[in-house]
Amino acid sequence: MSARSPESPRAYRGRLLTPIPASPDGAQVRTIDDALLVVGSDGRIAQAAPFAPGAFRGPVLDLRPAVLMPGFIDAHVHFPQTRVIGSASGPLLDWLERSVFPEEARFRDEAYATLVAGEFTGRLLASGTTTCVVFSSSCAGATDRLFRALLAAGLRGIAGLTLMDQSCPEALRVPRDEAIPAARDLVQRWHGEGGGLLEFAITPRFAPSCSRPLMEAAARLARDHGLLVQTHVAENPAEGEATLRAHPWARDYVDVYDRVGLLTGRALLAHAIHLSPREWDRLAETGSSVVHCPDSNFFLGSGRMRLSDPRARGVPVGLGSDVGAGRSFDMRRSMSSAFDNALCLGDRPTPADLFVLATQGTADAVGLGRVVGSLDVGKEADFIAVRFPEHVIGEAETLNHLVFASDATVQRAFVRGQPVYP
Ligand code: GUN
Ligand code: ZN
Repeated sequence: MSARSPESPRAYRGRLLTPIPASPDGAQVRTIDDALLVVGSDGRIAQAAPFAPGAFRGPVLDLRPAVLMPGFIDAHVHFPQTRVIGSASGPLLDWLERSVFPEEARFRDEAYATLVAGEFTGRLLASGTTTCVVFSSSCAGATDRLFRALLAAGLRGIAGLTLMDQSCPEALRVPRDEAIPAARDLVQRWHGEGGGLLEFAITPRFAPSCSRPLMEAAARLARDHGLLVQTHVAENPAEGEATLRAHPWARDYVDVYDRVGLLTGRALLAHAIHLSPREWDRLAETGSSVVHCPDSNFFLGSGRMRLSDPRARGVPVGLGSDVGAGRSFDMRRSMSSAFDNALCLGDRPTPADLFVLATQGTADAVGLGRVVGSLDVGKEADFIAVRFPEHVIGEAETLNHLVFASDATVQRAFVRGQPVYP
């Protein structure tokens, strides 16, 4: 298992659109109408500048009129829910029981897991997603198949075995003395593979389905290896009640994860809708990040997260599709739903805000903000080429179409400078 071999430097010509770090005039994105993006043999961006005839010696792939932009980052997606997208079977706990758990149980069949893993990576790439943070099922074999598929696809991915040892069907329940060694094996096999493109994440499903000893052991494993921790928090009021019934020693939902040691400084908590100010403060104090999953929140009727809650406290926020509660792998759908979510709460983010959220903002939330998320020199060259209708020319119009119009097509995708799509 190795990274794809580095190749000679390559250069790409096209319109370039990228987030920029805080600038004095408040601009968030930068456009270069005719740009040359040069990728070094190490897969990093060596140059991102206006095209100048003759300035670059070597072959240039001319992708005009496509727009070159950072690949999208999906900070929360469930691989074994690829085939249950659109199952409108109720609010969270009913939907899990009726639609999700029966499907996830099928992943004990490794041939099925392999088949769906190929669909999963194919759909991410076709949507322009180049980095994913993924929940597998509770089956170690299926998780291994997922990693194999991520490697074969050339994707950047952080993925974990979903831990659940209580309040779930027998077919999915894995006791701690089986689950933790299985997670440890997967760390040995996959963490850092693909030349560092792949990471293993500690993945307790959510507090109701995990015993305290399981979460404590998982937290130790996370700390031993410096692994990202991902889970769900405060998505739905009935889930919140189930959490406190399962863990009556905790003062609130966040306190469960806090007391078992899961808020390691690399914790990524999805949804975060029904949190008290104390819980938000505690997430900030522990250096945790949250994932906004607005399309899923609408589909399951879970509620609306207010972006200002984390932002006011400096808690990084990423964007997640949350497929299969989210209705699309396409992060443009998530951006559009994030707009609707904010409108309902009296805010009006710009398309630029949403684009930055889905790229640099999400990279920051998952701890990859210095590696990917923008097309700056020195970053790894994870980028996509997107084709817009001919009349879409200016920056504002391009962003409007990207986020809302569903008429732009992902033509190509590259991870660390290697072509991964089509
Ligand atoms: N909470 C626990 N498991 C899940 C899941 O699979 N999807 C969502 N949206 N929330 C969850
Ligand atoms: Zn989820």
